[in-house]
Amino acid sequence: MAYQKAIKENWTPYLLFAVIVATLGGLLFGYHTAVISGALIFLSPAFHLSVLDQGVVVSILLIGSIGGAVVSGSLTEKWGRQKTLLFASVIFIIGALMIGLSDTYEWLITGRIISGFAVGIVSVASPLYIAEISPPRLRGAFVSLYQLAITIGILLSFLIDYLLSDTGNWRMMFICGAIPAVVQLVCLFFVSETPPWLFKKGLDKKAIQVLQRLRKGKGWLNQVDAMKGVASPHRSSDWKTLFSRKVRFVLVLGLFLSIFQQITGINTVIYYAPKIFEFSGFSTASSAIAATLIVGIVNVLATVISVWLLDRVGRRILLLVGSMGMAVSLIFLSLAFFLKTTWIDQVSLFSLMAYVSFFAIGLGPVTWVLLSEIYPLKIRSKAMTVAVFANWGFNYLVSLTFLDLIRGLGPEGTFLLYAVISLLAFWFVFRFIPETKGKSLEEIESIILH
Ligand code: BGC
Repeated sequence: MAYQKAIKENWTPYLLFAVIVATLGGLLFGYHTAVISGALIFLSPAFHLSVLDQGVVVSILLIGSIGGAVVSGSLTEKWGRQKTLLFASVIFIIGALMIGLSDTYEWLITGRIISGFAVGIVSVASPLYIAEISPPRLRGAFVSLYQLAITIGILLSFLIDYLLSDTGNWRMMFICGAIPAVVQLVCLFFVSETPPWLFKKGLDKKAIQVLQRLRKGKGWLNQVDAMKGVASPHRSSDWKTLFSRKVRFVLVLGLFLSIFQQITGINTVIYYAPKIFEFSGFSTASSAIAATLIVGIVNVLATVISVWLLDRVGRRILLLVGSMGMAVSLIFLSLAFFLKTTWIDQVSLFSLMAYVSFFAIGLGPVTWVLLSEIYPLKIRSKAMTVAVFANWGFNYLVSLTFLDLIRGLGPEGTFLLYAVISLLAFWFVFRFIPETKGKSLEEIESIILH
């Protein structure tokens, strides 16, 4: 009830519009990372790709993303969050068109790096933008909408790949990815910069105007002093304070959470699902792709539940249930491969569905929510950059080593390894992650600094 009241009291149509525009960054992130899974089948003959070339076409996007994450810290600081998102939309359009129109392997690769670069930028700028415009009571739900958009982007790319696979029109698969970027580009002209960034740049009048459009009633006026306080360049928490033990602890916390999101293995499923289903006995390519689509749908549905729960039950409980559930699902999957049960195809489909659902409830959305809210404003964008950089780096490492691990340890050993890491993630959350539900960014900052 109190939550419903908070929703009614806190949101305005303009706020919702700005949040949706920023979540389009998530949709583009999901689409451009996953579109390759279906397109690769057609790219290989078109460009005479060797196995190694194929690996490069898939993973080079992640290298671009690492680069994008690195520069986005300075861009979101210098240009602001909204202009950085504008820049990323343009890069997304260029990348998608380059790949879609490419006739040589070099163009294809360059297009993939450029798309990855844009993905890296939005993975810092979108959640940051959303967290900074959201009222505290709705921040968890709004930032997790960004994760929902990622999952919808992934599902859309699976669907478009599937629909275009009849004609083998791989060019269109990539070009379709430019459409949400054009929509985002246009809409971004109608939303403003975030209040904390404006305060930080000394543009107080503009920041207050923006807050008036973002909030209902007058309750937000109480927060203005706190916002100005943390944004002031002369405030007492100078660099020495910021590198105090407590802040170093927060930096490490975000970094580990971001790494755990990847090393628990989610992208082995997102990028290689048809392959895993092939190992577990799905005999035709189309049945494996259909099973992949089901995984994509489950990913979206479970994320919807998480969006609904985040500001109600809090971050910690979702992370705990999520990581334990991932571990249990992976143990089942590993056992099915180990015992070579006759229902291995059904068991693998159900375990993977459960595993993806638990990721989508916990580590998927909550990582982005916490990364956007635990850092003090002064270091927020830089600290996010470091954590997101590690996220992409470990994503790359896991994707690169997955097939070798399967060869070396077998599917049973590989999934058991990810199960053990998921248990470690559970312990890490239980021991260290604080609850931030319902607190303003300024309150969280003062808890961390004092
Ligand atoms: C992760 C991605 C992953 C996606 C799956 C995101 O939170 O950062 O690496 O592909 O979730 O839904």
